[in-house]
Amino acid sequence: MISEKSFKINPKDKLESKKRLVIISDTHITRSGGAFNLHAFNVGMEKINKIKDASLYLHLGDITQMGTLLEYEYALEQFKKFEPLSKSPKMIFLIGNHDAMNVGYLLFEEMVGTRHYTYEDDDIYIYGIDSTKPDLPGGIIHHSIIDSVRKKLEKPKRENKFKVVCFHHQLIPIPNTGKERSAIDDSGDMLKMLLEAKADLVLNGHRHISNLYTVSSSEKDLFIFNAGTFCCNKTRYRELFTYSIIDIDGNNLNFKVIPVLDSNSQREILRKVNYYIPLQIDKKQKPIARFIQISNSLVSERFESNFNNFDKALEKINKIDEVDLVVHAGNLTKNSFKEEFQIAKDKLNQLKHPYLVVPGYTDSKPLAWEYWKHYFGEFDPLYENDKIYFQGMNSTTLDSKEGFIGRKKLNKFTEKVLSLSHQKIFGVCCFHNLIPTPLSVWRTELIDSGDVLSQFARSQIDLVLNSSPSISFNIKIENTIFSNGGNLEGKYFEEVFIEIEIYKKGLVVLKEHNLRTGLIKVIGNYYISILI
Ligand SMILES: [Fe+2]
Ligand SMILES: [Fe+2]
Repeated sequence: MISEKSFKINPKDKLESKKRLVIISDTHITRSGGAFNLHAFNVGMEKINKIKDASLYLHLGDITQMGTLLEYEYALEQFKKFEPLSKSPKMIFLIGNHDAMNVGYLLFEEMVGTRHYTYEDDDIYIYGIDSTKPDLPGGIIHHSIIDSVRKKLEKPKRENKFKVVCFHHQLIPIPNTGKERSAIDDSGDMLKMLLEAKADLVLNGHRHISNLYTVSSSEKDLFIFNAGTFCCNKTRYRELFTYSIIDIDGNNLNFKVIPVLDSNSQREILRKVNYYIPLQIDKKQKPIARFIQISNSLVSERFESNFNNFDKALEKINKIDEVDLVVHAGNLTKNSFKEEFQIAKDKLNQLKHPYLVVPGYTDSKPLAWEYWKHYFGEFDPLYENDKIYFQGMNSTTLDSKEGFIGRKKLNKFTEKVLSLSHQKIFGVCCFHNLIPTPLSVWRTELIDSGDVLSQFARSQIDLVLNSSPSISFNIKIENTIFSNGGNLEGKYFEEVFIEIEIYKKGLVVLKEHNLRTGLIKVIGNYYISILI
C-alpha cells in the first residue's frame, strides 16, 4: 500500500558538528586587461576574512586569466590579502580552464598545489577534481577518474560523512548564461556516478553566475551549486561579484550568495537532504495517467517491407491498456524524405492510443518542414484531455544539430502551466535533451538549454520527455521528472521504449521495455507533488 510516510525518510543526521564552507570562484587575476576587478577583489577579501567560524575556504578555479607565469605570481601576491579570522584559515584552490591555458597546468602544480585535492575530517569528505582540457574552454573528467571518485565516495568509512565533490565546469546547464557551452563531455557518466555513490553536494564555477538545483535519484537528493564570479568583470545579467557561504548542519543546508559590493542584497536558500525508499505499489491500484516515450525510429523507405523495431514497439504498445498518450520525441525519419514521413505516419496510425510527435535532427533536412506540415500539421503539437495537458515543442533548426526553444515559446507555455497546473498533469517534450545521459558525449546542442531546464524545473511541470542518444536515464530536478529514453535505434544500445505511470499523490514510476530481451524493468521511482 502507498502511504505518504513511505516516500521520504530523514536518516540520522550525518554531521556531529556544523560546517561552514566559504566559496569563491573565477577571480581571473591579471595585471593587464579588463577581466580582473582589483577593487572587487580587495573589498571581497576584506569581507571573507571577517567571516566567523569558517571551516574551509574553497576557490573553484579560473584563479588567473591566462595561466601565465606573471599572472600566477601576481595572483599569489594578491592572495596574501587572505588573512581569515577563523581558526582554520585554509583556502583550497581548484584549477579552471583559464589556469590551464598556455601550459598553466604545470605552473598550477608547481606554485598552487595538486590538481586533485582531498579534505577530510570526521564529518565531511571533500574531493576536488581537475576538469580542464589544456587550452580548451570545455571540460572532461575521464572515465578512470569517475571510477576512482566512485570508489572514494563509496568507502564504508565515509558512509555517514557529508560528501562534497568539486570541479570547475558545470555539470548540468544553468540559467542566465546565454548560449550553453563548454560543459564537461562526460557529464552524464559523472552525474550518474554522483547519484549512485550518494554524494551530497557538487560545487561548480565557470559560468560566472550562481545557481542551485536539487537533483534527485530515486533514492536521494543531491545539490548542485554553481558559484558566481568573485571579481571578474565578465558578469552575467544582473549578478555582479559574489561569494557564497554554505552552512551544513546535519542534513540541513543553508546557501547564502552574497554580493561583494552590496552585502545587503544577499540571497539565502534553505534545503534539506532527503532520502527516499523504493515504492511498493498495490497491483490493483491504477495510475491516473500513463505515457509511452519513444524516439529514434529512423523510418527509412529502404526497410519499408521489413518488420523493424518501430513496428515491434508499436505492436507492444498496443497491448498496453489505458495509455493516455504515446510521445515520439524526434528522429522519426532517417533522411527527412517525403516517403519516410508517409510511412511513419501510416505506422503511427496503427496505434490504438493517442499520439504526439515532435521533429528531431534527422527530421529537419531541407523540405522536411513542408512534409511535416503536410503529414503531422503542428510543429508544436498539443494534446489535452480532462486530466492531461501535454505540449510538444519543436526544438530543431533546419538542417542543423543545434536546437533552440526560444523565450517566446517558453514563456507562453509556462504561463499556461501557471494557469492550469492545479487542474491537470503537465508534460512537455522536445527532441534535444536537457540533462546529460550516461555513455554518450554531452554536446549541449540545445543552445538555450540553461534557461529551458530552469524554467521547466521551476514551474509546475510534472514531466519532461526528451530523446536519448544512448541509454535511458531519468532524474528529478526540483519537482519535475526529466526522462531521456525510448531509443529505438538498435545500433550501439538495445532498443527500448519507456512506460511512465503517474499515481495518486504524485508517485511516478518509469519502466523500460526492452525489445531485444522482452524484459520490463523499473528504471525510476519518484515522488512529486502534484496539485490535482
Ligand atoms: Fe571563469
Ligand atoms: Fe572557466
